[in-house]
Amino acid sequence: MKSIPERIEAIVRQALIHLLGPDGAEVDPLVRQTQDPKFGDYQSNVAMGLAKRLGKKPRDVAAELVAAMDVGELSEPPSIAGPGFINFRIRPSFLAAELEAIQADPRLGMPQVADPQRIIVDFSSPNLAKEMHVGHLRSTIIGDAIARLLEFEGHDVLRLNHVGDWGTQFGMLIQHVRETQPDVLEHPERFHIDDLESFYREAKARFDADSEFADAARRAVVDLQSGDPVARRLWEVFCTESLRHAHEIYERLGIRLVDRGESFYNPMLPQVVAEFQERGLAVEAEGAVCVFLPGFTNREGGPLPLIIRKSDGGYNYETTDLAALRHRVDVEKAQRVIYITDIRQRQHFEMCFAAARAIGWVPDDVQLDHVGFGMVLGPDRRPFKTREGGTVKLKDLLDEAVSRAAAVIDAEDERRSEMSPEEKAEIARVVGLGAVKYADLSHNLTSDYVFDWDTMLAMDGNTAPYMLYAYARVRSIGRRAGVEFDSLPADLPLVLEHESEIALAKELLRFSHVLQQVSADLRPHLLTDYLYGLSRAFSTFYDRDRGVRVIDAEPESVRLSRLRLCDLTARTLRLGLHLLGIEVLEQM
Ligand code: ARG
Repeated sequence: MKSIPERIEAIVRQALIHLLGPDGAEVDPLVRQTQDPKFGDYQSNVAMGLAKRLGKKPRDVAAELVAAMDVGELSEPPSIAGPGFINFRIRPSFLAAELEAIQADPRLGMPQVADPQRIIVDFSSPNLAKEMHVGHLRSTIIGDAIARLLEFEGHDVLRLNHVGDWGTQFGMLIQHVRETQPDVLEHPERFHIDDLESFYREAKARFDADSEFADAARRAVVDLQSGDPVARRLWEVFCTESLRHAHEIYERLGIRLVDRGESFYNPMLPQVVAEFQERGLAVEAEGAVCVFLPGFTNREGGPLPLIIRKSDGGYNYETTDLAALRHRVDVEKAQRVIYITDIRQRQHFEMCFAAARAIGWVPDDVQLDHVGFGMVLGPDRRPFKTREGGTVKLKDLLDEAVSRAAAVIDAEDERRSEMSPEEKAEIARVVGLGAVKYADLSHNLTSDYVFDWDTMLAMDGNTAPYMLYAYARVRSIGRRAGVEFDSLPADLPLVLEHESEIALAKELLRFSHVLQQVSADLRPHLLTDYLYGLSRAFSTFYDRDRGVRVIDAEPESVRLSRLRLCDLTARTLRLGLHLLGIEVLEQM
């Protein structure tokens, strides 16, 4: 089904073709939501730019366009305002017909894409040497939300965990495993790290303090790289354990990921460098192999190299990402690859993308995106740390989210005194994890944000608790009205009369358009903003003073129509939150 703005675009385009001939099809109709409902629901700003081109007054162009328009049942006759805005007010009867058409649709009007793509989303991707910490939160949550939406649209998505499982730090970890747990080689299943973070710290401290250990660690790196079976075995044992930790977190967050770490691309690295050299795209400078790409300069304005082999002969992050790109296009047949990392890695990706295109590994029709996000800050607006100044482990953060949610819920409402401890614990789990995800997703991607428990757990405002509460409340209306929403007939005629009812209907109908925008721009906060706006429109609708009666509305046809609006609100909230990776509660 076409969304309303798409239909208006088509109407304006028709008028443009009428005015300009076939050229009119090329002009962007510039359809936007109006800022002020006084002027209607949507506006087209096309007349202003066109006027210049045609040497006419914008208002005259607008008038000509309006005269050529056929809005059918969609809106009242368009009006012209200000310098030449064309305003559209959607007819309630049209809104009702649109909603009637999607009332039985589990996708709520959201079409499947006509041309599904094979898309790789590379997200989370922690370095295995350390335990997952707050720095991995955003990539994990944002990546999952983006993957969910693309999957929902009908794309074939491969979720890849490009973990950092290779590099010099593994030498020191292997050596530390070998010395602290000597029976690991015979009994790898006995290997266990309760605390990866301190394991890493211990190894690092020894590495810095004890030259004998440091030498052994360096030898372990060489052993590992040359395929020595013992070093290899210990490395595997370590990575397996570290990945197990990571997957405990993913499972808790309801996130699926396929592990394919940097080491997977190891055998391909020499070939990467060789081909760049053979093709004359790489040069040696001070012993390193460098690719110089047009448009990339350093601070002094000089050319900035992409180093693909270090002067010590080792390969790096760049080499691995080039090998990965090639593999993803060639073997995985990706038509699009999306990387979700900290914004500070932008240049790394831009350079890798440019290099991979220059050598022809990524053809023009394969789209590459880097989604860069801002930092998570503490209350002091500095990178978020524990009170003692250490890194905040993701596991601890999630535990705290759930226990804080439990405290908020206990303090906030008496009604739950009848709930069992299990029921309360489940509410705390969903609210706590939902709060962390929602807070992250509701911020503009590229801005840093302050991680603040009180804000994210507030019952009021653009938060998970508010949204979950809104959902549970809508669901409870059905129960109080004695109606199973699901068993309402699929072809209920809808009656939209009251202002608040019309406003709610308009919000409901924006859903599929918002999803399309989120997927086009890869900006999940557009969806949280929308869901928040929807629940506010619902609050007004359900308010006895500002809105309408629902449970005791008369006649029955109106009551049923309003219950259907409740049902559509609940389903939209549930599906929207689901696409963000947030569970809902039937009772809260
Ligand atoms: N392991 C990297 C880090 O922790 C992120 C990897 C992102 N993916 C990639 N293909 N480079 O910063």
